[in-house]
Amino acid sequence: MCSNIAVLLSGNGSNLKAIIDKGTKVSFVASNNPKALGLQIAKNANIPSYSWKNVSELEEEVLKLIIEYNVKLLVLAGYMRLLSKNFVNSLPSKFIVNVHPSLLPNYKGMNAIKQALDDSAQYTGVTIHYVDEGMDSGSIIKQNIIKINENDTEETLKDRLQKIEHRLYSDIIKSILIKNQ
Ligand code: GAR
Repeated sequence: MCSNIAVLLSGNGSNLKAIIDKGTKVSFVASNNPKALGLQIAKNANIPSYSWKNVSELEEEVLKLIIEYNVKLLVLAGYMRLLSKNFVNSLPSKFIVNVHPSLLPNYKGMNAIKQALDDSAQYTGVTIHYVDEGMDSGSIIKQNIIKINENDTEETLKDRLQKIEHRLYSDIIKSILIKNQ
């Protein structure tokens, strides 16, 4: 598949790694966190990587890079900043996707796994959705539900949710790219 995606991340980059391992071509990776482990994953895979702490600058530069690399889909993979209205509206609709570790609209924002546990929720899951200018609020593409066990901790739940994310997100990105060809 020759369609290009770009990835924005802030942290570990395990979703980036899964996307790379499944064979999707990543044109560049950008982060608001220069120390993000995900940037190292990009470097190890010979993918150009960039970081800007200032998110306005990051958005401005990423818009230029999207054109330069002829990017077809922008993938948020643990990018922990809200994109500006101006940035989102500068791109076509359904151009940005995100993965979130809850059954949206429940438990938006940071610490979604802890929010579900603190709420004594019986179920949680993974949501993949298009990104609009709101917080975790764009239209939902796919959700996978799992039961929360009595003895689940943040770590055990995160581990199960991320296993789902790594499979589901890569598959959905591929299918969007095929559909948009
Ligand atoms: C993922 O679990 C993703 O669902 C979550 O950040 C993690 C990043 O992990 N995203 C959000 O909470 C977005 N609101 P990774 O850096 O190992 O891919």
